[in-house]
Amino acid sequence: MRKLQPGPLVIASHNQGKVREIRALLAPFGIEPVSAGDLGLPEPEETGTTFAENALIKARASAEGSGIVALADDSGLCVDALGGAPGVYTADWAETPEGRDWGLAMRKVEDRLEALGSDVDRSAHFACTLALCWPDGETALFEGQVAGHLTWPPRGDLGFGYDPVFVPEGHDQTFAEIEPEKKHAISHRAEAFRELVNALL
Ligand code: IMP
Repeated sequence: MRKLQPGPLVIASHNQGKVREIRALLAPFGIEPVSAGDLGLPEPEETGTTFAENALIKARASAEGSGIVALADDSGLCVDALGGAPGVYTADWAETPEGRDWGLAMRKVEDRLEALGSDVDRSAHFACTLALCWPDGETALFEGQVAGHLTWPPRGDLGFGYDPVFVPEGHDQTFAEIEPEKKHAISHRAEAFRELVNALL
């Protein structure tokens, strides 16, 4: 497989939390990440029904718009008892007319779980697919997951999104209570990144 060369790379995301994490993960490799937002690239509509489809849509749009190799992340929370929801619609569950409200999104998940009874299975996982797209159209995909369970009420103020309700397997703290360096070592994004690094760097 083609290797990723040191130099500029577009992070095809307008999500500051993700951009921060991806920057940290790429820092040791001589890659110079710029975000799609900083380059003023438009945010394509995520019309796919899988993480891979949506990651490819975002990576392609940024590679075509910038002429630079682009890396996109599509990720989400999949709750077993909810049939894998919110899944690819994880960010949509936070949408309000005033912008994204993660407190509301976490509450929606919790309400649906509680509606299934007090002994409901609270197992969940975060999934992440990374798509890389070169300006000539070549693509590569990498996937990662982290298993855990959901807790309520939310705890911690580190991280982003659904971190305050997700307790990774083998831990007592939520992702929002675990130091970022530790989260980066065990997260779904970190696993997908390890795959990418092994294959391309
Ligand atoms: P998208 O990939 O931009 O469609 O958004 C996926 C959504 O999943 C994010 O906006 C977050 O809310 C959520 N998500 C993905 N990864 C994480 C994570 O590491 N912690 C908390 N929430 C996450």
